[in-house]
Formats: sequence, C-alpha cells, structure tokens
Amino acid sequence: MMVAIFLNFHYHTLKTDTQRIYDFYQHYTQVHGTSTGWSSLDYALRLYDLSSSCPHQPWTELTSILDIGSGEGHFKDFLRTKHQFKGHYTGIEVVPEFHTTALAKYGDDAQTTFIDGEFLTHDFDTNKFDWVFSLGSLSVLQPNQAKYDEFFCKKMRALARYGTTIYLNDATLTCALSLQNVKHLATHNIDDFVHMLRQNFSPAVIEIHRLLPVAPQGVIIHVRFL
Ligand SMILES: C[S@@+](CC[C@H](N)C(=O)[O-])C[C@H]1O[C@@H](n2cnc3c(N)ncnc32)[C@H](O)[C@@H]1O
Repeated sequence: MMVAIFLNFHYHTLKTDTQRIYDFYQHYTQVHGTSTGWSSLDYALRLYDLSSSCPHQPWTELTSILDIGSGEGHFKDFLRTKHQFKGHYTGIEVVPEFHTTALAKYGDDAQTTFIDGEFLTHDFDTNKFDWVFSLGSLSVLQPNQAKYDEFFCKKMRALARYGTTIYLNDATLTCALSLQNVKHLATHNIDDFVHMLRQNFSPAVIEIHRLLPVAPQGVIIHVRFL
C-alpha cells in the first residue's frame, strides 16, 4: 500500500513537459528539415548502427523491442534491413507529425505497432519487451532533469527483459560545440547518469560507446541485465 502511494505520488509529479518537446522539434525541423530528428541522415545511421551493435543483442533471436521516441520510425526499417530483425517492433512517439509519417512510411509491416503517445503516461499493461531503446528521447531538457531521468529509466527497466540502450549528449563535450546554443537541448554528465543506472539497474553490465570521431558528444549506453 505504501509503495503504491509512493509511486503514484511520483507518477503525478514527474510529468513530461510535452509542449517543450513540440516546440523543440518544431524549431529543429525548421533548421534541419525532417531528417529523422537528428542533425543529418548520416548521423542517424551511425547512431542506429552503434545502438544495435551490442554483442548481447542477438537480433535473430530477439522477439520484441520497444523504441521510445520513435520519431519517423526509421530505426524499425534499419533493424529489418541491417539485422534481419523479424520480431515485433513497437514505437511510441509524442509528436503527432512524426507519428503520422512513421505510420505512412512503415505502418503496413504487420509486425509493427506505432503508438501515438507519451512514454511516461502510456499504459503498457502487462507488455514486456526483450530490449528497450531510447534514442534521443532524453534529449529535450525537462524540469528537474535528474529525477526525470531516473523515473524514465525505472520505467524502461520495468518494461525490458534483457537490456536497454540509451543515447545521450555528453555535457562536457556538447558545451564546446555549436550545440550549446540549441535552446532546451538536454545534455548529461555521463558519470552521474551511469551511477544512477547502477543504482537502479544492478546487477547489470554497462557499456559506453561514443560516436567517434565526428561526434564525440554522442554517447550510446548499453545496459544488459544480469
Ligand atoms: C532525437 S529524436 C529521435 C527519433 C528516433 N528515435 C530516431 O532515432 O530516428 C527523439 C524523439 O523522441 C521523442 N520523445 C521525446 N520524449 C518523449 C516521450 N516522453 N514520449 C514519447 N516520445 C518522446 C521526440 O518527440 C523525438 O521524436
């Protein structure tokens, strides 16, 4: 009973500022076009590659994945083409325009579900997924970011059977780049974030990769649960 009240309290206090996400991507697409929510298609492809190259993601055996902040759905296509992933892909996306594009481009794949919704408030019922991805969904600054990250990651953990993969912008490297002027871009202290993961995800093996050499601020964290 105490636990239920405690979780409920946090559930209602830590809401995603969705308006800020809409504003961020409206501005972003004006500047960069609609190339997948990233600065370029090339960057997106390199990031997808690194995000799906963890030796503990056996693509021919995985039966389901959840992609939080699935954007225009391109990661689904990448997994089918590059890794011959045959399992069920579920993407959830809060920006309606991105969701609509994903549906139009990839919605006829029977093994795919695109959810028009927000991750923290969406009820996944009893569904679980072999691997859960967050490729950029923690990249728009939220009020009380550290607590938000922890709450978000705990929900990811609860939904994932074997592991998760998370993309972050490294604050120490982002501040040296033009990205520092992007309003409401969330950047992270990677050591603090990994510390938070260890506290909530242990026992787990955590691997950190960088999008070297062109984009060292881009960090991919793979977490495999033990
Ligand atoms: C950098 S974009 C990447 C899109 C996609 N993952 C890809 O790699 O092509 C991050 C996406 O996460 C979405 N997002 C952020 N927070 C979210 C949330 N709480 N629930 C659902 N989607 C979210 C944004 O709207 C945006 O489309």
